[in-house]
Amino acid sequence: MKDFERDYPDHTEAMGYEHGDEPQCNTSANRNFYDVMDARVARRGFLSGGLATIATGLIGASLSGKGALAQSTSSLIGFTPVPVSFDDTVVVPEGYSFQILGGIGEPISGDMPAYRPGANTGAEREHQIGQCHDGIHFFPIDGVSSEDGLLVLNHEYIEPRFLHAEKEGYKGVAHDKRSVVYDADGMRDDDEVRMEIASHGISVYRTAKQADGQWAIVADPHNRRITANTPIEIGGPVRGSAHVRTKYSPDGAMTRGTVNNCAHGVTPWNTYLAAEENWAGYFSNTTELDQKPDLPREHVRYGVSTNPNGGRYGWHKAKSGADEYVRWDATVTGASATEDYRNEPNTYGYMVEIDPFDPESTPVKRTHLGRFAHEGVVFAPAVEGAPVVCYSGDDARFEYIYKFVSDGVFVPGETDGSILDSGTLYVAKFNDDGSGEWIALAAGRNGLTPANGFADLADILVNTRLAGDFVGATKMDRPEWGTVDPNSGDLYFALTNNSRRTLAQVDAVNPRAENNFGQIVRWNYENGDHTKASFEWDLFVIAGNARNSALATGGALSDDSVFACPDGLWCDGDSRLWIQTDMGDKGPDDAGPLEEFGMNMLLAADPATGEIKRFMTGPWGQECTGVVTTPDGKTMFVNFQHPGAHASAEEFAAGSFGSGFPDYDGTVPRCATVVISKDDGGVVGA
Ligand code: FEO
Ligand code: CA
Ligand code: CA
Repeated sequence: MKDFERDYPDHTEAMGYEHGDEPQCNTSANRNFYDVMDARVARRGFLSGGLATIATGLIGASLSGKGALAQSTSSLIGFTPVPVSFDDTVVVPEGYSFQILGGIGEPISGDMPAYRPGANTGAEREHQIGQCHDGIHFFPIDGVSSEDGLLVLNHEYIEPRFLHAEKEGYKGVAHDKRSVVYDADGMRDDDEVRMEIASHGISVYRTAKQADGQWAIVADPHNRRITANTPIEIGGPVRGSAHVRTKYSPDGAMTRGTVNNCAHGVTPWNTYLAAEENWAGYFSNTTELDQKPDLPREHVRYGVSTNPNGGRYGWHKAKSGADEYVRWDATVTGASATEDYRNEPNTYGYMVEIDPFDPESTPVKRTHLGRFAHEGVVFAPAVEGAPVVCYSGDDARFEYIYKFVSDGVFVPGETDGSILDSGTLYVAKFNDDGSGEWIALAAGRNGLTPANGFADLADILVNTRLAGDFVGATKMDRPEWGTVDPNSGDLYFALTNNSRRTLAQVDAVNPRAENNFGQIVRWNYENGDHTKASFEWDLFVIAGNARNSALATGGALSDDSVFACPDGLWCDGDSRLWIQTDMGDKGPDDAGPLEEFGMNMLLAADPATGEIKRFMTGPWGQECTGVVTTPDGKTMFVNFQHPGAHASAEEFAAGSFGSGFPDYDGTVPRCATVVISKDDGGVVGA
């Protein structure tokens, strides 16, 4: 049991809402399916140990023999696996090469201001690539090219000390990964706040393969930054509702900015959706300082901060008191909602649609996909004449997985993002026998009525989590990325970990108490029809070391494949399932149950054989997140986020930044995209 008692430090900080601090806000009484796991496991023959052994952390004993069973050999993943790494380097398989592209601070637009490590201004950053790269997609410039396209990527959060490393108050001063400088009056420097706001959001830039085979950023009219201050339209049923009327937008049609953009999605009409994950922590609501339960439920159920110093970075404390900063304070200060920003948090928690091919277009928050800590979104293969279907996980402990089915049908060349404004949102319930069902979250359905506290569809959507509670959805172990195998139609979701699940709370799909290692669930439909309300599911892999992992095809993970905390998932055109890990801000000296897994990594799996191999490992402190290839599969783009994040405040003060990646020249570490190719010009992973 000892091994399972670890709690990730960055997952436990109350109300700070740092990266990885996906708070537990679900206090509903929805039952967990402790009693169903044995039946489920027995039926699928998945784990001979059954629930009792898993739940008590003793599965090593029952599976140690199985771990020796040979996995089926896959022809889909032909590379030689790399070992677990404890080095501050990028390691790719023999026969592969990589380059660095698009690190934080690289200029993409305007006067192309040069990167100055730890010294750029906020105005400069508005034309440079942001920090904490996450979800990413390559859009071929002409729809087909594998050598010229638009890269679109998210910037999940920031590490202020690295943004400001050369500035007064930071250089030589002890700062942990979250701290910022306040003056004697408790206020913040405007430009530092502007820099932090501009380091969030999304980057769009053109990149092309050069004559020497290297990829480069290309100055192009498509290039742009969307930041935490960019005007954004509110679309769908929440638009115009009383929930989102503010001083900035009295008619509730607009808001500003997007934050904590974790993973993404790509629509069948070739636009990009950025997820808003841990947005709640950016706001402060001190209306009822000591009476949090009296805050609006649309704040409480998401964990909006009541800290008087405000959310994570105190943006509303910018000295100038400009409206663009003040609006991060959701405290009631005016006579009505259109005289203050009490509703500003209600304009966050959505999927944000961006058209990378129209740089003048205004992004749109697609509210019918629900309001929660969206990790990302994944679309089922579009079928002409059929509804559009997509899925999104809510990454916090004991939260849910959702599906949206459009009212309209997909018409290639005609359908646009407005199809996401009308349809039905569902939430997943996993049954004991390997079946499952989608429960509609719609006005008047499943008890979601005014009498039960849900006034209308906008009210249901703004309070998506509460609607999920009400209908009895299954509480999951932190749903991260999902992906759909484009060939089989199977749907996968990564359930990254949940150290707080107790023995009494385990169920068939979340089978481990104090789950440090995570699992990947897979499900499918009769005739591959994603619009159906019922499905079949199994666990593709229970992650961990050789003693406590298990594969759906039998056996366990081996030296070539042990991993923990699956987060990023992406199935490529050949059905190779790419798995990225987020074990937190791990440095080489990390100790605890995750120690043996080394640095965060990228693996590839063959869904048919179940074989998994470790493809790449990254430098100190980083998380490997965001993966995509060019259409021909010959170039892969992978993001490394937060290198050096494990450095202590004292190390930072001494000029030791935790990692040298990618410049290794003594300057602060940089989040960046790693571009990988096979030396023989073949398909990556094959
Ligand atoms: Fe941003 Fe859930 O990882
Ligand atoms: Ca993630
Ligand atoms: Ca994560």
